[in-house]
Amino acid sequence: MTSGRPFSADSYELRRPISPPLCGEGAGAGGLPTAVVLPTPPPHPSPTRGVGGITLAPITLETAAHLGRAFAAMEPWSRYPFSPEALATYFAGGEPHAPRFAVEVGGETAGAIGLRLELLRGPYLQFLGILPAYQRLGLGSLLLQWMEREAGSSARNLWVCAADFNADAQRFYERHGFTRVALLDDLVQDGRDEVLLRKRLK
Ligand SMILES: CC(C)(COP(=O)(O)OP(=O)(O)OC[C@H]1O[C@@H](n2cnc3c(N)ncnc32)[C@H](O)[C@@H]1OP(=O)(O)O)[C@@H](O)C(=O)NCCC(=O)NCCS
Repeated sequence: MTSGRPFSADSYELRRPISPPLCGEGAGAGGLPTAVVLPTPPPHPSPTRGVGGITLAPITLETAAHLGRAFAAMEPWSRYPFSPEALATYFAGGEPHAPRFAVEVGGETAGAIGLRLELLRGPYLQFLGILPAYQRLGLGSLLLQWMEREAGSSARNLWVCAADFNADAQRFYERHGFTRVALLDDLVQDGRDEVLLRKRLK
């Protein structure tokens, strides 16, 4: 899998045009120098603020803190002992084999994605979170398509874990071709199981 190269803007389309609401304090790290540009959303009928490209951007400390606060308060992470600071440290700490990106829509932070580039003959989706105001717009689906595409022709699998209680996320992955392959008991915390899902690419 490659990272850090621009995504080309092929045929991805959001389910409907995005006119993002304000994300609140600290949101948005507009003007970041780099980024991977995800597909251009379809033209919006009115010149609504914030309509723009979808970008995977490197995570600044400020954005990491914002994402840490947001996701620590949100399920499934709020049901684990993950502090905002611990999550912020994760977001800020990308490594070459485990990149993390802020998902930006029109310059506003809409979520985050983190990967491990190689698990078992393919990459592992370590973190995927879309902030509530941006859910159900097709961003998560777009990111799974991106992951699959970036995995390249040598990858045989995509991997992800979802909390046993996170039925919505499991359904989301299953609708994108993942199947449950194992239940990992007590993986993160005693008494709490994680479902390992695999998408076979070959
Ligand atoms: C699960 C998630 C990544 C999906 O991203 P998304 O951008 O909302 O997904 P899309 O718009 O591409 O697809 C929406 C579908 O995802 C599913 N979904 C799962 N959890 C959902 C949620 N909390 N909110 C909205 N949709 C959710 C639904 O089946 C929905 O389909 P529908 O609109 O036809 O009912 C995102 O909703 C999210 O971050 N949820 C909370 C955190 C989470 O559970 N992350 C996964 C951890 S493993």
